[in-house]
This record gives sequence, C-alpha cells and structure tokens, in this order.
Amino acid sequence: MSRQRTAVLISGRGSNMRSLVAAAKAEDFPAEVALVLSNVADAAGLDFARSEGIATKVVDHKAFDSRETFERAVQAVLEAHGIELVCLAGFMRLLSPWFVESWRDRMLNVHPALLPSYRGLHTHERALADGVKIHGATVHFVVPEMDAGPIIAQAAVAVRGDDTPQTLGARVLEQEHVIYPRALALVASGAARVDGARVVVAGEPAPGAALVSPGAGLAH
Ligand code: GAR
Repeated sequence: MSRQRTAVLISGRGSNMRSLVAAAKAEDFPAEVALVLSNVADAAGLDFARSEGIATKVVDHKAFDSRETFERAVQAVLEAHGIELVCLAGFMRLLSPWFVESWRDRMLNVHPALLPSYRGLHTHERALADGVKIHGATVHFVVPEMDAGPIIAQAAVAVRGDDTPQTLGARVLEQEHVIYPRALALVASGAARVDGARVVVAGEPAPGAALVSPGAGLAH
C-alpha cells in the first residue's frame, strides 16, 4: 500500500500534529507524516517532530512582504517534499483562495467547535456564554471561506454546568485527537469523497465520521 505523503502545518503547541504522527505509526495507516511545517520558528511542536525524525521546515510569514509570496514559499516546500495531502493543525494564518484552490479536496483542518456553529476564535467561551449543552470538534476540507467546507468527521462533547473555557476546551481537544487521525485515514484511503458541499464516506454507517465518545459524557 502506498501511503499518502502528508504535511502537517502548525503554528504552536502541535498536539493535533502529535496525534496524527502517533496514528501514522500503525503499519496499515494510509498516510505518513512526511513534513511538519511551521510559520513560527519556535513553535513547540517542531521539537517533537524533529525528535521523531520527521522533516521540519520553518517558513516565517514575517519574512515576506505579502501573503502571496509567503504562500508561494510554502507551496515550494510542499512540492519539494512530494506532499499529497495537507493537514492544518493549529495553523493560525488565513490562506488565500489561490493556495486553498491548489489543495482543493486535499487539505484538511481541525476546528474546536461543531461547525457550522462557532466559526472563528474563542469557541469555548462563546459556547459557554450561549449555554449550549453540546459542543465539540470538527475536521473538514478547507475552502476559501474560513472555518467552512465539507465536514469529514465530528465529535460531540457534553457541556457541564461547572465548565470553564479551559475544562471544556480540554475535553474538546481530546476529541480532536481522536477524530483528526480518523478523518485523515478516511481521506487518505479514498473512503471519504467530496460530493458538492458534503463528504460521502464509503461503507457508512461504519464507525469513523460521526463520533459520540464514551468519554464525552453524552446521554445515549
Ligand atoms: C486546536 O484546538 C485547533 O482546533 C485550533 O487550534 C488548536 C491548536 O492546538 N484551531 C483553530 O482554532 C483553527 N480555527 P494544537 O497546536 O495543540 O494542535
């Protein structure tokens, strides 16, 4: 089986990147993490990637005079590493339509909310302020519009009365680490296919795309 060469783009801690690296250690995982790229030179996740023997690259956006020149530099690195799939994992740069289109149906993102609710930042604070009872995480294909695009996998988390943004965010993050590897596997294996605005997963209702974890605390 040829494993899809995958780049993970980070800006900081990189815990989702770690979960992808861990999953890709399984022999039958359909993707390999061939590159970890960061726009921040001291992103903590880079050290982990290096310690795993994964190729790393810093492309510092501040060194470029425009979004376009920055993205062309990123693109050149991805091409040089023969990258087939891109996973955004806490990559905090808006990407231009040009870059997004060049990775159409081949670029994934993880977002800490149940999209299409709570696009943007401070998702846990906003969910608590609204008093929602269910929150969660989403992995989706990237489209030019921010935090939108065909949904590949979601996990739901029950909101508790005494939650703070930190406690809720920690439970959501745990679920991100579960669904991101699953979503990547679905895409890399060819099981997940974009059909208009939606993702169709071959063989559903097999486990994979929709997840209510035992640990998520939801009533069944
Ligand atoms: C994650 O919670 C991810 O969902 C979020 O940033 C965090 C990165 O953590 N991404 C976004 O908010 C994108 N809209 P990590 O560096 O530990 O993976």
